[in-house]
Amino acid sequence: MALLPIIYAPDNRLKLKCQEVHEIDESVCKLMDDMLETMYAAPGIGLSAPQVGDNRRILVCDVAREKEAPNPMKMVNPIVVWSSDEIFVAEEGCLSLPKHFAEVKRPKEIRVKYIDETGNNQEVAADGLLAACIQHEIDHLDGILFVDYLSPLKRNIILRKMKKLKRLKEAA
Ligand code: NI
Repeated sequence: MALLPIIYAPDNRLKLKCQEVHEIDESVCKLMDDMLETMYAAPGIGLSAPQVGDNRRILVCDVAREKEAPNPMKMVNPIVVWSSDEIFVAEEGCLSLPKHFAEVKRPKEIRVKYIDETGNNQEVAADGLLAACIQHEIDHLDGILFVDYLSPLKRNIILRKMKKLKRLKEAA
C-alpha cells in the first residue's frame, strides 16, 4: 500500500464529474487500499478518488470512533437510491480543505447502491454521520465540495485562505 498525495481546493481536478468504473480490476482494488491508508493517515473519515487525482467513481470511508473496531467501506459507482425527508445537520470538514469546518444540511437517512471490491452489487442503509459522510464523498464524484453549500461569502473566505495556504506550501 502507499500514501497518496491529497489535492487541496481550489483545484480544477476537484470540479470534474468522475467516470463510471466498468471493471473491478487490480488497479481499482489497489487504489481503494491506498485511499484507505491515506485517509487513516490524514486522519479522516472519508476520501474520494478525485481527491487523489483519479477520475473514477470510487470512495472509501470509515466513521468508527477511536475506541471502536475499524469499519472500512469501499464503494465503486455509488448511487443514492433513496433519501429521507428528515434532515441531519453535521459539521463537515474535508481532507481537501484542511482545518475548515462548516455545518451542512443533508438527508438524515439514505440507501446507497454500489459495487464492492469483488465486483458484487451491494445496497446499504446509512444514517447520521455515515449518511453525511457517504453523501459528502459522492458529491466529490460530481465535482461538488461541502463549501459549495455555504453562502458565497463564507465559501470565498475559505477558498481565499486555501489559496494562501497553497501559495505558502509551494514557496516552502
Ligand atoms: Ni471531502
